[in-house]
Amino acid sequence: MKGVILAGGTGSRLHPLTRITNKHLLPVYDRPMVTYAVEALVGAGIDEVMLVTGGTHAGEFFRLLGNGQEHGIARLFYAYQDQAGGIAEAFGLAERFVGRDKVCVLLADNVFERSLRTTVENFEKQESGARIVLTHVGEDEHLRHLGVARMNGERVEEILEKPETPPSNYAVTGIYFYDEQVWDVLPTLKPSGRGELEITDVNNWYVSRGLMEADVVEGFWGDAGESIDAYYEVNDFVRRNGVNK
Ligand code: DAU
Repeated sequence: MKGVILAGGTGSRLHPLTRITNKHLLPVYDRPMVTYAVEALVGAGIDEVMLVTGGTHAGEFFRLLGNGQEHGIARLFYAYQDQAGGIAEAFGLAERFVGRDKVCVLLADNVFERSLRTTVENFEKQESGARIVLTHVGEDEHLRHLGVARMNGERVEEILEKPETPPSNYAVTGIYFYDEQVWDVLPTLKPSGRGELEITDVNNWYVSRGLMEADVVEGFWGDAGESIDAYYEVNDFVRRNGVNK
């Protein structure tokens, strides 16, 4: 399985910090944020990776990660996104790299306490379709900033992006698994209200065809790019407990 780490975007919710660097290069405890995503993939057995970034600090990722080998990556590729056109647009840049393989896409601002290995293994065994990872989030105010799953028992029936009225307490984390059908879905996407190609539309394509499976993550999950408070919450958690365990 190939891995794609998405580290583009404008990071506007962390302005002014992200006026002077890329969000994913900001420190989380004792090292740059993106290294946790790298560690998460490598720890789950994925060692062929493409990093997609953009903006004015892209060169710093080379300085940090180089050819990836110090970080346990066997082959590291890079792609450059010209405009912050959305998660699905950024992912589209990895099409030739992924080819007909299965792919795991990870947002570089997501931090997981527990190893992703079980989920990766679950998708290895899955014959076709897609897989997402859900997490339980208690507060509606928090859910309104995330993708939220409408559930029927253990099945995902629909994903709503940043819903005013969250349909459940299951938020969609920023790790996604796809089979090769994804390359037929991406060209059909239309920009959303925020002008971006949404990964939630890709996921709903699979959901509506009964091709989406979901795991529920155990332990802490954080999106360090969601707000300055979320950024510090992730920092505090990592410093006290460590992650990717
Ligand atoms: O963190 C989980 C959430 O991530 C999910 O619950 C949502 O369903 C999903 O849409 C996403 O929401 P965000 O609003 O947090 O996405 P954001 O725009 O912050 O982008 C997340 C990452 O994707 C960011 O760290 C870098 C990458 N990205 C984003 C954009 C818009 C790119 O590489 N290029 C882009 O153009």
